[in-house]
Amino acid sequence: MNRIPLAPGLLEDAALSDSAEVHDAFRSDVITGLSQPQKALPCKYFYDETGAQLFDAICRTPEYYPTRTEIALLHTYARDIAALAGPGAHLVELGSGASIKARILLDALESPRSYVPVDIAATGLYAEASSLQLSYPHLAIMPVYADFTRPFPLPSSCAQGRKVGFFPGSTIGNFSRDEAARFLRRTSKMLGRDGLLVIGVDLKKNKRLLDEAYNDAGGVTAAFNLNILRRINRELRANFDLAAFTHCAHYNVALGRVEMHIYSLAFQSVRVDGHPFSFAQGESIHTENSHKYAVAEFQALAQDSDFTPVQVWMDEARLFSVHCLSARSTH
Ligand code: AVJ
Repeated sequence: MNRIPLAPGLLEDAALSDSAEVHDAFRSDVITGLSQPQKALPCKYFYDETGAQLFDAICRTPEYYPTRTEIALLHTYARDIAALAGPGAHLVELGSGASIKARILLDALESPRSYVPVDIAATGLYAEASSLQLSYPHLAIMPVYADFTRPFPLPSSCAQGRKVGFFPGSTIGNFSRDEAARFLRRTSKMLGRDGLLVIGVDLKKNKRLLDEAYNDAGGVTAAFNLNILRRINRELRANFDLAAFTHCAHYNVALGRVEMHIYSLAFQSVRVDGHPFSFAQGESIHTENSHKYAVAEFQALAQDSDFTPVQVWMDEARLFSVHCLSARSTH
């Protein structure tokens, strides 16, 4: 097994999933979220080991069009992206997961200087970095275990050379518009002068297609959604009865977002680390938002958030978009 050097200044223990800090943040986010009138949980907690696997399985369902559409776009336009990036770039992927999409760019880029996968799922991060190192023996791979929804340091070896951010999968859609703007401004600063961002953004479209994509007939999305309760049971000594809850997602047309919820099938009470929470029959926990953007709408958001739109690519059916933005210096 290849050993991957950890980025300097970052946690040195690879068994990060159980670090006290991460665990405390999880507990306080869950208790705060379940104490609100509309119960809610941050969607970043979906991605424990099982959750990451279920997410990969969602990407293979016939209903979930974003992944295969984006992969096809990246294959078709990889040369154009590489031409914009130029030689010797650092590729920094936010939420790298299985790094499948990054490989498409790495294969097209002209002598990339390094690949920096950033992810909140530690186990997958280091495993994928090792397997990637076997495919790209000459590439510097520097995994960063971090929650990219908050500020984090890049490895210092990225200081020289152009940084190309890569944020695929329409993960930007999980942020509200304000959060997205704040995230983009922070990312623009992180990429610095000359920085580029290649970002996948799911497009607004008819409700039926969206509802089906998030309620697949095989029940994979349901299992993914309910797995967050299993994780809370395991890590926070809670007693959710998974059979007493059900998954449902719907496209909220007015707000331009798919909302994913877990509905309580009965009146019930649940304890999380000693805290009691009661559920009315039909009451929900809001677990995820997935905002959809028209091209002009996303470009306006980028323009407002220290980026200049450079290029946008779409499939023929206009299901999905990949934007290239350039970081605009604010001074
Ligand atoms: C890749 C995190 C953006 O919102 O479409 C898939 C996650 N949730 N099915 C999305 C997800 C339910 C996905 N993201």
